[in-house]
Amino acid sequence: MDGVPKPGRILVSSEAIDRRLGELGARITADYRERNPLLLVGILRGAFVVLSDLIRRLEIPCEVDFMEVSSYGTGTSSSGVVRILKDLEEDITGRHVLIVEDIIDTGLTLSYLRRSLLARNPASLEIFALLSKPSRRRVEIEVKYLGFEVPDEFVVGYGIDYAGYHRNLPDIHALLDSP
Ligand code: IMP
Ligand code: MG
Repeated sequence: MDGVPKPGRILVSSEAIDRRLGELGARITADYRERNPLLLVGILRGAFVVLSDLIRRLEIPCEVDFMEVSSYGTGTSSSGVVRILKDLEEDITGRHVLIVEDIIDTGLTLSYLRRSLLARNPASLEIFALLSKPSRRRVEIEVKYLGFEVPDEFVVGYGIDYAGYHRNLPDIHALLDSP
C-alpha cells in the first residue's frame, strides 16, 4: 500500500450506518409488504457491504442479483462514460426491483443504469443509495431511500474504495490528501 492515500477522519461511523439501515430497512419492509418478492440489484463492487447489511434488515421475501459497471478508472473523477462489465443474471420483466448503490456523485452512473433497467419493463424500479454528494450532481436523480449526505470529499470504507483499497474499513472516512 505504498503511495496509497490513507483514510482520514470518520464521516459516518459504523454505529450510525447500523442505525440508519434499521430505519430504512423498516421503511422498505413496509413499502414492499404487498409487492414482493423484491429483487435487490447490488452495484458491484462498492455496494456489496451495504447490500449484505441491508438485506438482513428486510422482513419480506427478497432475492439478489448484481451488476458491475465502470464509470471511473482507478482515479477519483468521473469520466462520464458508463460501461456494463457484468449484466444481471435475472430477467427483471414484471418484477419489483430496488437498485442498491454505495454512493451517488455526479449521478451519471445511476441515471444510465435506471434508464437501462427501465427499458426491460420491471413492475417497479426504485433506488437505494447509502451516500450522496449533492453538491456534485450533474444530472437529477430520484433516490427513494438515502442513507446519508456527505460533503464533496473522496470517501472510503464500508465497501467503498480508492483504487481497490480501504473497502474493509468498518466506518466511512474521508481520504487523506485526496488527489
Ligand atoms: P457518479 O456516476 O459520478 O454518480 O459516480 C458513482 C460511482 O462513483 C459510485 O458508484 C462509486 O463507485 C464512485 N464514487 C463516487 N464518489 C466516490 C467516492 O467518494 N469514493 C469512492 N467512490 C466514489
Ligand atoms: Mg460504484
